[in-house]
Amino acid sequence: MKRRISLPRVEGKASRQAHADLPPGTFEREISKEGFFGPAALFHHKHPPTGWVEFEGPLRPHAFDLNQLSGFQASPWQAAEVLRNANVRVRFWATAESMDHLVRNADGDDLLFVHRGGGEFYCDYGHLSVAAGDYIVVPRGTMWRLDVHESTAMLLIEAVNSSYELPDKGLLGGHAIFDPAMLDTPRMDEAFVTQQTEDRPWRVLVKRHQAISTVTYPFNPLDAIGWHGDLSVVRINVRDIRPVVSHRYHLPPSAHTTFVGQRFVVCTFVPRPFETDPGALKVPFFHNNDDYDEVIFYHAGDFFSRDNIHPGMMTLHPCGFTHGPHPKALKNMLTQPKPATDEYAVMIDTRDALEITDAARGIEWAGYVDSWK
Ligand SMILES: [Fe+2]
Repeated sequence: MKRRISLPRVEGKASRQAHADLPPGTFEREISKEGFFGPAALFHHKHPPTGWVEFEGPLRPHAFDLNQLSGFQASPWQAAEVLRNANVRVRFWATAESMDHLVRNADGDDLLFVHRGGGEFYCDYGHLSVAAGDYIVVPRGTMWRLDVHESTAMLLIEAVNSSYELPDKGLLGGHAIFDPAMLDTPRMDEAFVTQQTEDRPWRVLVKRHQAISTVTYPFNPLDAIGWHGDLSVVRINVRDIRPVVSHRYHLPPSAHTTFVGQRFVVCTFVPRPFETDPGALKVPFFHNNDDYDEVIFYHAGDFFSRDNIHPGMMTLHPCGFTHGPHPKALKNMLTQPKPATDEYAVMIDTRDALEITDAARGIEWAGYVDSWK
Protein backbone atom coordinates (compact mmCIF):
# COMPACT_ATOMS: atom_id res chain seq x y z
CA MET A 1 0.00 0.00 0.00
CA LYS A 2 1.36 3.40 -0.92
CA ARG A 3 -0.09 6.79 -1.41
CA ARG A 4 0.99 9.98 -3.07
CA ILE A 5 1.85 12.82 -0.65
CA SER A 6 -0.71 15.50 -1.33
CA LEU A 7 -0.87 19.12 -0.30
CA PRO A 8 -4.51 19.99 0.29
CA ARG A 9 -5.34 23.70 0.00
CA VAL A 10 -8.55 25.56 0.78
CA GLU A 11 -9.51 28.64 -1.25
CA GLY A 12 -12.50 30.89 -0.66
CA LYS A 13 -15.55 29.44 1.08
CA ALA A 14 -15.15 25.68 1.16
CA SER A 15 -15.73 22.63 3.28
CA ARG A 16 -12.63 20.77 4.47
CA GLN A 17 -14.10 17.28 4.14
CA ALA A 18 -15.07 16.02 0.67
CA HIS A 19 -18.75 15.15 0.08
CA ALA A 20 -19.91 16.57 3.43
CA ASP A 21 -20.78 19.85 5.14
CA LEU A 22 -20.99 21.83 1.89
CA PRO A 23 -21.44 25.60 2.20
CA PRO A 24 -25.25 26.01 2.39
CA GLY A 25 -27.00 26.14 -0.98
CA THR A 26 -23.97 24.98 -2.97
CA PHE A 27 -23.37 22.02 -5.29
CA GLU A 28 -20.13 20.09 -5.07
CA ARG A 29 -18.18 19.18 -8.21
CA GLU A 30 -15.09 17.01 -8.19
CA ILE A 31 -12.37 17.26 -10.83
CA SER A 32 -9.81 14.52 -10.44
CA LYS A 33 -7.05 12.42 -11.96
CA GLU A 34 -6.86 8.61 -12.12
CA GLY A 35 -10.56 8.09 -11.49
CA PHE A 36 -11.08 8.67 -7.77
CA PHE A 37 -7.53 7.81 -6.74
CA GLY A 38 -5.37 10.72 -7.92
CA PRO A 39 -5.13 14.41 -7.07
CA ALA A 40 -8.55 16.04 -6.93
CA ALA A 41 -10.21 19.39 -6.34
CA LEU A 42 -13.74 19.93 -5.05
CA PHE A 43 -15.58 23.08 -6.09
CA HIS A 44 -18.66 24.57 -4.44
CA HIS A 45 -20.91 25.93 -7.17
CA LYS A 46 -23.91 28.20 -6.91
CA HIS A 47 -25.72 26.20 -9.65
CA PRO A 48 -25.82 22.48 -10.48
CA PRO A 49 -23.02 21.92 -13.06
CA THR A 50 -25.52 20.00 -15.22
CA GLY A 51 -27.65 23.14 -15.64
CA TRP A 52 -26.72 23.67 -19.29
CA VAL A 53 -29.34 25.07 -21.67
CA GLU A 54 -27.57 24.09 -24.92
CA PHE A 55 -25.08 21.31 -25.69
CA GLU A 56 -23.64 21.33 -29.23
CA GLY A 57 -20.97 19.29 -30.98
CA PRO A 58 -20.00 15.62 -30.93
CA LEU A 59 -19.46 15.42 -27.15
CA ARG A 60 -22.58 14.72 -25.10
CA PRO A 61 -24.16 12.33 -22.60
CA HIS A 62 -25.78 9.33 -24.28
CA ALA A 63 -28.53 6.92 -23.29
CA PHE A 64 -29.39 3.76 -25.20
CA ASP A 65 -32.43 1.53 -24.73
CA LEU A 66 -31.02 -1.94 -25.34
CA ASN A 67 -34.55 -3.39 -25.05
CA GLN A 68 -35.15 -1.91 -28.50
CA LEU A 69 -32.39 -3.91 -30.19
CA SER A 70 -34.27 -6.06 -32.63
CA GLY A 71 -35.01 -9.74 -32.26
CA PHE A 72 -33.16 -12.76 -30.99
CA GLN A 73 -29.80 -14.08 -32.14
CA ALA A 74 -29.07 -17.81 -32.21
CA SER A 75 -25.38 -17.23 -31.46
CA PRO A 76 -23.67 -14.78 -29.11
CA TRP A 77 -21.40 -13.94 -32.06
CA GLN A 78 -24.46 -12.41 -33.79
CA ALA A 79 -25.19 -10.13 -30.82
CA ALA A 80 -25.18 -6.41 -31.52
CA GLU A 81 -22.03 -4.61 -30.46
CA VAL A 82 -22.92 -1.31 -28.78
CA LEU A 83 -19.68 0.21 -27.48
CA ARG A 84 -16.04 -0.59 -28.12
CA ASN A 85 -12.44 0.52 -27.92
CA ALA A 86 -9.10 -1.27 -28.19
CA ASN A 87 -9.47 -2.80 -24.70
CA VAL A 88 -13.14 -3.63 -24.29
CA ARG A 89 -16.10 -4.52 -26.49
CA VAL A 90 -19.66 -4.50 -25.14
CA ARG A 91 -22.37 -6.59 -26.82
CA PHE A 92 -26.00 -7.22 -25.89
CA TRP A 93 -27.25 -10.70 -26.68
CA ALA A 94 -30.91 -11.72 -26.58
CA THR A 95 -31.95 -15.29 -27.32
CA ALA A 96 -35.02 -17.47 -26.93
CA GLU A 97 -33.45 -20.73 -28.09
CA SER A 98 -30.81 -23.05 -26.76
CA MET A 99 -27.56 -22.95 -28.72
CA ASP A 100 -27.07 -25.79 -31.23
CA HIS A 101 -23.33 -25.06 -31.39
CA LEU A 102 -20.41 -24.16 -29.16
CA VAL A 103 -18.52 -20.86 -29.16
CA ARG A 104 -14.96 -19.98 -28.25
CA ASN A 105 -13.56 -16.46 -27.97
CA ALA A 106 -9.93 -16.38 -29.07
CA ASP A 107 -9.77 -12.58 -28.78
CA GLY A 108 -9.95 -12.26 -24.98
CA ASP A 109 -11.77 -13.18 -21.77
CA ASP A 110 -15.53 -12.62 -21.77
CA LEU A 111 -17.57 -11.41 -18.84
CA LEU A 112 -21.22 -12.41 -19.26
CA PHE A 113 -23.79 -10.54 -17.23
CA VAL A 114 -27.24 -12.19 -17.27
CA HIS A 115 -29.81 -9.39 -17.42
CA ARG A 116 -32.91 -11.60 -17.69
CA GLY A 117 -33.76 -15.27 -18.09
CA GLY A 118 -31.27 -18.00 -17.44
CA GLY A 119 -30.44 -21.58 -18.27
CA GLU A 120 -27.83 -24.27 -18.22
CA PHE A 121 -24.30 -23.23 -19.16
CA TYR A 122 -22.05 -26.01 -20.47
CA CYS A 123 -18.32 -25.45 -20.99
CA ASP A 124 -14.95 -27.20 -20.95
CA TYR A 125 -15.03 -27.12 -17.16
CA GLY A 126 -18.48 -28.67 -16.71
CA HIS A 127 -22.03 -27.48 -16.07
CA LEU A 128 -23.33 -24.39 -14.26
CA SER A 129 -26.96 -23.27 -13.84
CA VAL A 130 -27.10 -19.54 -14.54
CA ALA A 131 -29.74 -16.95 -13.67
CA ALA A 132 -30.45 -13.23 -13.83
CA GLY A 133 -27.88 -11.19 -11.93
CA ASP A 134 -25.06 -13.67 -12.56
CA TYR A 135 -21.64 -12.54 -13.70
CA ILE A 136 -19.82 -15.37 -15.48
CA VAL A 137 -16.13 -14.90 -16.24
CA VAL A 138 -15.18 -17.03 -19.25
CA PRO A 139 -11.42 -17.35 -19.76
CA ARG A 140 -10.26 -16.82 -23.33
CA GLY A 141 -10.35 -20.03 -25.35
CA THR A 142 -13.09 -21.74 -23.31
CA MET A 143 -15.69 -23.63 -25.39
CA TRP A 144 -19.24 -23.01 -24.14
CA ARG A 145 -22.91 -23.05 -24.98
CA LEU A 146 -26.15 -22.10 -23.25
CA ASP A 147 -29.41 -24.06 -22.98
CA VAL A 148 -32.04 -21.46 -22.10
CA HIS A 149 -35.16 -22.00 -19.98
CA GLU A 150 -36.84 -18.84 -21.23
CA SER A 151 -36.08 -15.71 -23.22
CA THR A 152 -32.66 -14.63 -22.00
CA ALA A 153 -30.62 -11.48 -22.42
CA MET A 154 -27.09 -10.75 -21.34
CA LEU A 155 -24.26 -8.32 -21.70
CA LEU A 156 -21.08 -9.76 -23.18
CA ILE A 157 -18.14 -7.66 -22.04
CA GLU A 158 -14.95 -8.74 -23.80
CA ALA A 159 -11.56 -7.92 -22.28
CA VAL A 160 -9.83 -7.61 -25.65
CA ASN A 161 -6.50 -9.44 -25.64
CA SER A 162 -6.44 -9.52 -21.84
CA SER A 163 -7.82 -11.21 -18.74
CA TYR A 164 -10.22 -10.38 -15.92
CA GLU A 165 -8.78 -10.05 -12.46
CA LEU A 166 -10.16 -9.06 -9.07
CA PRO A 167 -9.41 -5.59 -7.67
CA ASP A 168 -6.92 -5.09 -4.86
CA LYS A 169 -9.15 -4.71 -1.79
CA GLY A 170 -6.45 -2.81 0.11
CA LEU A 171 -7.36 -1.94 3.68
CA LEU A 172 -10.72 -3.71 3.33
CA GLY A 173 -9.00 -7.08 3.11
CA GLY A 174 -9.44 -9.90 0.66
CA HIS A 175 -12.97 -10.90 1.74
CA ALA A 176 -14.64 -7.62 0.68
CA ILE A 177 -16.83 -6.98 -1.34
CA PHE A 178 -17.44 -10.66 -1.87
CA ASP A 179 -15.46 -13.53 -0.47
CA PRO A 180 -13.56 -15.34 -3.28
CA ALA A 181 -15.01 -18.50 -1.71
CA MET A 182 -18.36 -17.32 -3.13
CA LEU A 183 -17.12 -17.82 -6.69
CA ASP A 184 -18.89 -20.86 -8.11
CA THR A 185 -17.20 -23.06 -10.70
CA PRO A 186 -18.84 -25.50 -13.16
CA ARG A 187 -19.26 -29.09 -12.04
CA MET A 188 -18.78 -32.32 -14.00
CA ASP A 189 -22.16 -33.52 -12.80
CA GLU A 190 -24.84 -35.77 -14.26
CA ALA A 191 -26.17 -33.02 -16.55
CA PHE A 192 -22.68 -32.55 -17.99
CA VAL A 193 -22.19 -36.26 -18.62
CA THR A 194 -25.68 -36.53 -20.20
CA GLN A 195 -24.89 -33.86 -22.79
CA GLN A 196 -21.77 -35.73 -24.01
CA THR A 197 -23.61 -37.12 -27.03
CA GLU A 198 -21.99 -38.76 -30.04
CA ASP A 199 -25.13 -38.93 -32.21
CA ARG A 200 -24.54 -35.81 -34.28
CA PRO A 201 -21.78 -33.45 -35.46
CA TRP A 202 -21.01 -30.39 -33.32
CA ARG A 203 -19.75 -27.04 -34.58
CA VAL A 204 -17.46 -24.75 -32.59
CA LEU A 205 -17.68 -21.12 -33.76
CA VAL A 206 -14.32 -19.54 -32.94
CA LYS A 207 -14.00 -15.77 -32.89
CA ARG A 208 -10.52 -14.49 -33.70
CA HIS A 209 -9.77 -10.95 -34.89
CA GLN A 210 -13.56 -10.42 -35.00
CA ALA A 211 -13.92 -13.08 -37.72
CA ILE A 212 -15.72 -16.37 -37.13
CA SER A 213 -14.24 -19.74 -38.11
CA THR A 214 -16.10 -23.01 -37.69
CA VAL A 215 -14.53 -26.23 -36.45
CA THR A 216 -16.77 -29.30 -36.80
CA TYR A 217 -16.47 -32.51 -34.76
CA PRO A 218 -18.36 -35.77 -35.22
CA PHE A 219 -18.95 -35.79 -31.43
CA ASN A 220 -19.61 -33.22 -28.69
CA PRO A 221 -16.15 -31.88 -27.82
CA LEU A 222 -17.26 -31.04 -24.26
CA ASP A 223 -16.25 -34.60 -23.47
CA ALA A 224 -13.71 -34.23 -20.64
CA ILE A 225 -14.18 -36.61 -17.73
CA GLY A 226 -12.26 -34.39 -15.32
CA TRP A 227 -9.77 -31.55 -14.99
CA HIS A 228 -7.35 -30.05 -12.51
CA GLY A 229 -5.67 -26.67 -12.30
CA ASP A 230 -6.20 -23.13 -11.08
CA LEU A 231 -8.02 -21.64 -14.09
CA SER A 232 -11.78 -21.95 -14.55
CA VAL A 233 -15.01 -20.27 -15.48
CA VAL A 234 -16.29 -18.53 -12.33
CA ARG A 235 -19.69 -17.16 -11.38
CA ILE A 236 -20.87 -14.65 -8.80
CA ASN A 237 -24.38 -13.23 -8.50
CA VAL A 238 -24.97 -9.55 -7.75
CA ARG A 239 -27.01 -10.62 -4.70
CA ASP A 240 -23.83 -12.11 -3.23
CA ILE A 241 -22.07 -8.74 -3.30
CA ARG A 242 -21.91 -7.08 0.13
CA PRO A 243 -21.33 -3.41 -0.63
CA VAL A 244 -19.04 -1.21 1.39
CA VAL A 245 -20.90 1.77 2.86
CA SER A 246 -20.31 4.57 5.33
CA HIS A 247 -23.08 6.29 7.25
CA ARG A 248 -21.04 9.51 7.28
CA TYR A 249 -19.36 9.60 3.86
CA HIS A 250 -20.61 9.07 0.30
CA LEU A 251 -18.14 6.57 -1.15
CA PRO A 252 -16.97 6.99 -4.75
CA PRO A 253 -18.06 4.37 -7.34
CA SER A 254 -14.59 2.83 -7.21
CA ALA A 255 -15.59 1.32 -3.82
CA HIS A 256 -17.89 -0.95 -5.85
CA THR A 257 -15.22 -2.31 -8.24
CA THR A 258 -15.94 -5.96 -9.00
CA PHE A 259 -13.61 -6.94 -11.87
CA VAL A 260 -10.55 -5.31 -13.42
CA GLY A 261 -9.53 -5.61 -17.06
CA GLN A 262 -6.75 -3.96 -19.06
CA ARG A 263 -7.46 -0.18 -18.96
CA PHE A 264 -11.06 -0.66 -17.77
CA VAL A 265 -12.93 -1.73 -14.65
CA VAL A 266 -16.37 -3.21 -13.98
CA CYS A 267 -18.21 -2.03 -10.85
CA THR A 268 -21.57 -3.13 -9.46
CA PHE A 269 -24.17 -0.98 -7.73
CA VAL A 270 -26.34 -3.05 -5.39
CA PRO A 271 -28.91 -1.96 -2.77
CA ARG A 272 -27.29 -0.18 0.17
CA PRO A 273 -28.48 2.09 3.01
CA PHE A 274 -28.25 5.82 2.47
CA GLU A 275 -25.85 7.92 4.53
CA THR A 276 -27.47 9.13 7.77
CA ASP A 277 -25.04 11.88 8.90
CA PRO A 278 -26.89 15.20 8.47
CA GLY A 279 -23.98 16.83 6.62
CA ALA A 280 -23.09 13.91 4.34
CA LEU A 281 -24.15 13.88 0.69
CA LYS A 282 -26.82 11.25 -0.04
CA VAL A 283 -26.48 11.32 -3.84
CA PRO A 284 -23.46 10.94 -6.13
CA PHE A 285 -21.42 14.13 -6.24
CA PHE A 286 -21.13 15.95 -9.57
CA HIS A 287 -17.90 14.98 -11.25
CA ASN A 288 -16.13 15.08 -14.59
CA ASN A 289 -14.71 11.55 -14.53
CA ASP A 290 -11.85 13.25 -16.35
CA ASP A 291 -9.65 10.26 -17.11
CA TYR A 292 -12.43 7.76 -17.92
CA ASP A 293 -15.46 7.23 -20.14
CA GLU A 294 -18.24 5.95 -17.90
CA VAL A 295 -20.90 3.42 -18.90
CA ILE A 296 -23.76 2.28 -16.70
CA PHE A 297 -26.11 -0.59 -17.56
CA TYR A 298 -29.31 -0.52 -15.51
CA HIS A 299 -30.25 -4.09 -14.55
CA ALA A 300 -33.04 -3.93 -11.98
CA GLY A 301 -34.76 -1.77 -9.39
CA ASP A 302 -35.34 1.94 -9.12
CA PHE A 303 -32.37 4.04 -10.21
CA PHE A 304 -32.21 6.65 -7.51
CA SER A 305 -29.90 9.18 -9.17
CA ARG A 306 -31.39 9.02 -12.69
CA ASP A 307 -34.85 10.11 -13.80
CA ASN A 308 -36.52 8.38 -16.79
CA ILE A 309 -34.12 5.43 -16.83
CA HIS A 310 -35.48 1.88 -16.74
CA PRO A 311 -33.97 -1.63 -16.69
CA GLY A 312 -32.23 -2.58 -19.92
CA MET A 313 -31.00 0.95 -20.62
CA MET A 314 -27.36 1.96 -20.82
CA THR A 315 -25.86 5.42 -20.38
CA LEU A 316 -22.50 6.66 -21.60
CA HIS A 317 -20.91 9.73 -20.05
CA PRO A 318 -17.70 10.37 -21.96
CA CYS A 319 -15.08 12.41 -20.13
CA GLY A 320 -15.09 16.13 -20.87
CA PHE A 321 -18.19 17.41 -19.08
CA THR A 322 -19.71 17.22 -15.64
CA HIS A 323 -22.36 14.67 -14.85
CA GLY A 324 -24.33 13.99 -11.71
CA PRO A 325 -27.77 13.43 -10.26
CA HIS A 326 -30.91 14.34 -12.17
CA PRO A 327 -33.13 17.15 -10.78
CA LYS A 328 -35.61 14.79 -9.06
CA ALA A 329 -32.75 12.94 -7.33
CA LEU A 330 -30.93 16.17 -6.48
CA LYS A 331 -33.86 17.27 -4.31
CA ASN A 332 -32.82 14.47 -1.94
CA MET A 333 -29.18 15.61 -1.83
CA LEU A 334 -29.20 15.92 1.97
CA THR A 335 -32.35 14.05 3.04
CA GLN A 336 -33.53 10.78 1.48
CA PRO A 337 -37.16 9.72 1.94
CA LYS A 338 -36.19 6.05 1.71
CA PRO A 339 -33.74 4.24 4.00
CA ALA A 340 -31.84 2.51 1.18
CA THR A 341 -31.22 2.39 -2.54
CA ASP A 342 -33.00 -0.30 -4.54
CA GLU A 343 -30.87 -0.59 -7.65
CA TYR A 344 -28.71 -3.10 -9.44
CA ALA A 345 -26.47 -1.65 -12.13
CA VAL A 346 -23.25 -2.58 -13.88
CA MET A 347 -20.72 0.18 -14.48
CA ILE A 348 -17.89 -0.05 -17.00
CA ASP A 349 -15.26 2.68 -16.68
CA THR A 350 -12.80 2.81 -19.56
CA ARG A 351 -9.50 4.64 -19.60
CA ASP A 352 -9.71 5.18 -23.39
CA ALA A 353 -12.51 6.75 -25.39
CA LEU A 354 -15.37 4.47 -26.44
CA GLU A 355 -16.77 4.31 -29.95
CA ILE A 356 -20.56 4.16 -30.34
CA THR A 357 -21.61 1.60 -32.95
CA ASP A 358 -24.35 2.12 -35.56
CA ALA A 359 -26.50 -0.43 -33.68
CA ALA A 360 -26.30 1.75 -30.56
CA ARG A 361 -26.97 4.95 -32.53
CA GLY A 362 -30.19 3.34 -33.76
CA ILE A 363 -31.57 2.93 -30.23
CA GLU A 364 -30.30 6.17 -28.73
CA TRP A 365 -32.64 8.40 -26.72
CA ALA A 366 -31.78 11.75 -28.31
CA GLY A 367 -33.43 13.74 -25.52
CA TYR A 368 -31.06 12.46 -22.82
CA VAL A 369 -28.78 15.51 -23.06
CA ASP A 370 -31.74 17.70 -22.06
CA SER A 371 -32.93 15.41 -19.27
CA TRP A 372 -31.26 17.47 -16.52
CA LYS A 373 -33.43 20.51 -17.38
FE1 LIG B 1 -19.76 9.17 -12.75
